[in-house]
Parts: sequence; structure tokens; C-alpha cells
Amino acid sequence: MNISTENTIAQPVGTTLERYIMRKQAEFPFATGELSQLLRDIALAGKIVNREVNRAGLTSIIGSMGQQNVQGEAQQKLDVEANIRFIRALTNGGEACAVLSEEEDDIIHTGNCQGKYVVAIDPLDGSSNIDVNISIGTIFSIYRRVTPVGESATRADFLQGGRQQVAAGYILYGSSTMLVYTTGHGVAGFTYENSLGEFFLSHPSITIPTSGTVFSCNEGYWFDYPQYVRDYLMQCKREGQSGRYVGSLVADYHRNLLTGGIYLYPPTGKNPNGKLRVLYEAFPLAFLIEQAGGRAESGTGPILDIVATEFHQRTPLFVGSPALVERLLTETEVAPKEEAIEQNHA
Ligand code: AHG
Ligand code: MN
Ligand code: MN
Repeated sequence: MNISTENTIAQPVGTTLERYIMRKQAEFPFATGELSQLLRDIALAGKIVNREVNRAGLTSIIGSMGQQNVQGEAQQKLDVEANIRFIRALTNGGEACAVLSEEEDDIIHTGNCQGKYVVAIDPLDGSSNIDVNISIGTIFSIYRRVTPVGESATRADFLQGGRQQVAAGYILYGSSTMLVYTTGHGVAGFTYENSLGEFFLSHPSITIPTSGTVFSCNEGYWFDYPQYVRDYLMQCKREGQSGRYVGSLVADYHRNLLTGGIYLYPPTGKNPNGKLRVLYEAFPLAFLIEQAGGRAESGTGPILDIVATEFHQRTPLFVGSPALVERLLTETEVAPKEEAIEQNHA
């Protein structure tokens, strides 16, 4: 029987995440498999959270916990569930010696002192959308530890700087569930096949369009925005560009990554240093976007050059197509060097 017949009758299912990881590991002779295992552990937790997300309306998982997280934000039940699932998967997987989570004040020590990696994570991004069935996500950032193997991780392991990340990515629980990640050699996307319980390679090499006609921001804060941001947005509107804002960073980011566009979370009165967190939102998404040919800025410098001194430090975020970010920062007055933000950059 010839191949074309075989393909007609038995369509190939494609490349699983597992096979992709093994192939990529084989390309690095000194790779010892720990990072591969860490990515598998994250994917496993993502599958479990995906299951909870898909049946949220049928279980007791929607709604608020009636408590706040360390950030003073109302915790949704799924925030807590996702946090538990990812920390448990990383603890049982053995490769991460510590985890920093949006939902935890301090480092979570997994007990894997022999683990060579640490993970910073936003277990559930877009919490306000959980109960209304709108796309949400998980964002993760991986570093090789700087403290000696065998000892407990310290702050230094998490505050190495954005350009020290060895891998970063997100899981988007959307109309389909996708895992998108980079290990510094381009960006690959995998789509989850529920019936097989596997992620399959669907986007082998993602690069963001140089420009685009979409801007994503919460215009409710319009009167808080710096003048250069308002000037940019007014120009977008004069040109008839589209405003698209889901309220889940991962969803807005993913759409702009594939079609071109810019996501803006400027300083506001409520969050004068920006709302989004450096270590588990801005850094991983900045690493990814630069690997995809895009750009991520804070308004006073590249996101990846921010000097983070606190675990839950926030930053303004302008991320997406390079021509759009460039235009935001140059064609209008230069972002004022606000004291509070300047501290973020060396
Ligand atoms: P999280 O749910 O992890 O706290 O993140 C929410 C973030 C981001 O996902 C989203 O783009 C932004 O907050 C929405 O903020 P506003 O509701 O202020 O627009
Ligand atoms: Mn988030
Ligand atoms: Mn979150």
C-alpha cells in the first residue's frame, strides 16, 4: 500500500510534545534530560487544570474563595486549585527545587534539593474570566538555580534577571487548549487533543508579524494613561485599527502573537507601577516575544532588562509586534522617566 493511501485511510496524528521534547533534547549533546522532564511536569499539570476548567460550571470550582492572595486580590477557587496542581506536579516531578507563585507570598520549597531548576508561575491568569467562560491561562518561567545543588533555593535563584531564563511559556485554556513555549531556540505551539490526552505540535515555529492593526488595553483607565499612550491610541483609532481586549493577558497576547498587534498595560492611578508582575507575567512573555521576533518594553526600557528586587514586583507592559511597540515609544513623546518605574531598570 503506498503512502498516499495510508495517509488517506490513516491520517498521521502528528508529533506529540513528548516526541518533540526528546528530539530537541537530542540536538543538545550535553542535555541531561532534567529540563525535558520539567516541561513534561508542567504539561501534566496543564492537562489537569484544563480538565477542571472544562467542567468548571459543573463542579464546585467556580466562584471566589472568599479570601485574598498575597497581592490583596480576591482569590478564585480555580486560582487555588491551579496553584496546588502546578506546585504538586513540580514537587512530584523532582526537577524543580523551588517554586515562586503569584498565589504564594514566599518561595515554596519542593524538597527536591537536588533539583537544578526553579520555576516562577502565574497558575491561573485572567481570574476575572473564570466564572464567565472566557479564555484563561497559565504563565511559567524557568531558571537554572544559582545556589549549590543540594541546598535550599534562595531569593537569588528567582532574582537573576529576565535574560537568565532558560525556558518560558504559557498554557491557554481557550476554544482549544494550547501550550506555547521557548527554550531560547524559537517558539513552538502545541494543541491539546482531549480524546488522546496529548499535546500535538501544531505551530512548529511561531514568529509574530512585524506590524498589525490590533491594540489591546483596558480603556477604562484612559484618564490615568500617560499622554504618550493616549496619543498612540488616538492615532490607532484615526487609522481604524481594532480594539481587542479579553481581560486575560494570555489570550490577548496569544492572539497578537499569531496575527500581529500590541498589548498595553500602562501605569494607572490604581497601579502606578503597572499591574502585571515582572517575574511570572512580564519576564516569561517578554522572553517568548523576543524569541518570536517581537518586542516587550516597560516604557523606560526593555522588560528583560528590569532589575527585579521583589518577588511580586509590578511593571507597565507594552508587548507585541516590533513596529507597533517602536511606534508607541518613538512617534509620540518619549515615556516620561517616572521615578517609580526607573527604579526597575538598572
Ligand atoms: P491575574 O488573573 O493572574 O491576576 O491576571 C490578570 C491580568 C491579566 O491577565 C489581564 O490582562 C489584566 O489583569 C486585566 O486587568 P484589568 O481587569 O485591570 O484590565
Ligand atoms: Mn496573571
Ligand atoms: Mn493569576
